[in-house]
Amino acid sequence: MEQRIWWKEAVVYQIYPRSFMDSNGDGIGDLRGIIQRLDYLKDLGVDIIWLSPIYQSPNDDNGYDISDYQNIMSDFGTMEDFDELLAQAHALGIKIIMDLVVNHTSDEHKWFVESRKSIDSPYRDYYIWREGKDDNPPNNWGSWFGGPAWEKDEATGMYYLHIFSKKQPDLNWDNAKVREEVYEMMTWWLDKGIDGFRMDVISLISKVPELPDGEVRGGIYGDLSPYCIHGPKVHEYLQEMNRKVLSKYDIMTVGEAVGVTIEEAPKYTGYDRNELNLVFQFDHMFLDMGEHGKWSNRRFQLTDLKKILSKWQTALEGLCWNCLYWSNHDQPRAVSRFGDDKDYRELSAKMLATCLHMMRGTPFIYQGEELGMTNAYFEQLEQYRDIESLNAYKGYVEQLGLSHELMMDYLQHMSRDNARTPMQWDDSLNAGFTTGTPWIEVNKNYKEINAKNQFKDETSVYHYYKKLIQLRHEHDIIVYGSYELLLPDSEQLYVYRRTLGNEVLLVICNFTKEEMELELAEYGMGTEHTLLISNYPDDQGNRIRAYEAKVYRMPT
Ligand code: GLC
Ligand code: CA
Repeated sequence: MEQRIWWKEAVVYQIYPRSFMDSNGDGIGDLRGIIQRLDYLKDLGVDIIWLSPIYQSPNDDNGYDISDYQNIMSDFGTMEDFDELLAQAHALGIKIIMDLVVNHTSDEHKWFVESRKSIDSPYRDYYIWREGKDDNPPNNWGSWFGGPAWEKDEATGMYYLHIFSKKQPDLNWDNAKVREEVYEMMTWWLDKGIDGFRMDVISLISKVPELPDGEVRGGIYGDLSPYCIHGPKVHEYLQEMNRKVLSKYDIMTVGEAVGVTIEEAPKYTGYDRNELNLVFQFDHMFLDMGEHGKWSNRRFQLTDLKKILSKWQTALEGLCWNCLYWSNHDQPRAVSRFGDDKDYRELSAKMLATCLHMMRGTPFIYQGEELGMTNAYFEQLEQYRDIESLNAYKGYVEQLGLSHELMMDYLQHMSRDNARTPMQWDDSLNAGFTTGTPWIEVNKNYKEINAKNQFKDETSVYHYYKKLIQLRHEHDIIVYGSYELLLPDSEQLYVYRRTLGNEVLLVICNFTKEEMELELAEYGMGTEHTLLISNYPDDQGNRIRAYEAKVYRMPT
């Protein structure tokens, strides 16, 4: 068995503070709101909270554009509120990891305010400045949030790089002073007692110094990915960060590693590498891409999903540890994307949870997923708040001529706002999230889908998640067992086996509404077995019903 480590045995719950709980009626979730709901998280049984950014920010990208790393956004409260949140969470045995957004800052951060003033500013080299070419930007790169990745700044007539919005200038990690400032800031937070970091787009921090033009595929901009993802010094910098900061604390670190492959993951997280503990991979998030990239209404294919997740399950064994997730604040709702949020919402939400939580790795639950919350299905463009979605609409509809209807359909499937509508606490006004006007509309289905209802109902999605978390805490095999995919060619069933010592788990998940027969004996089912969990009230053996999920435990 692999070495035991607490973060391998933990279940993480992601809070998107803006949409979690509003304590003062201004329509925006806040830290005191989170404090009010800690008991809920304790009951659910999660071990760690990942807090999306709560730092001072002008909110161009909802806090992922930070103007002061050591202050709390006034919308969210004060540093005293934060200290209280941390203390109360710790008192309940819940750890907190913070979002660390250091690929870029806000253009309102004092470093950038100074940097842009003149080429002689001591902060000039904190960012990536280049001369334009004639009247054009330094190269052809396109921003991931639409438009060019360069913005011309009037003060000096030069351009700065921004992979995301123009209010998110990229930091220059090749400048040792930048790295020292970041390490100092991280140390300050860790000394406060936080339990680690989720590192935003950390695979982008090192750029190929020549910044060559990127390949143009459709559209007008070049692809910056090959020159920014896993850049030449990313591992050198992470090792330095580990040496100077991370290694001094007993914490959990997880990198958002856009573009990471099974070859690359062990470089970031290998047990002998002294970089990070975990990375988020994105392969299964790309399965439903279409001719307009992420803007798509396609459905994934189960055989592809199984191939990808199984590859990650087996390839990392003994080398490093997996992150397990279906959703987060950048993705649509899991049950809408991978399940059936209409006729089989509860069953399919539980099925998806089973499929993921029985795998090897550290599971992440995104707020509301434990209730089976669904996509927002906004019908008007005006209902959207997300800069990525709004910029994409402009780019595709206003500039490239895609139809309004098609783009709205894409947004209903893929917009990040699907996951950002307020948490559905009860069936009162605004789902109990706020007494004021919520910053983004509450999902219309809150009267039916909410925590209060599910709390009362032992058969709810909520209680099912609670049980899955409990099982993980009780059974080493769920955490440490090895993984083996069965029936790779089925487009209907996801079946896999976990093995540890003389124990086996057989996990069976139906990803469709079709019933079918499965000869369980062929997969090692003897008479001596127990049913660990199932989303149906009874077990009908070889008969597998619509979206049924069940897990058997037996001896080898
Ligand atoms: C990450 C965040 C996303 C943000 C982007 C830029 O992908 O998860 O929400 O927009 O980085 O910071
Ligand atoms: Ca508030």
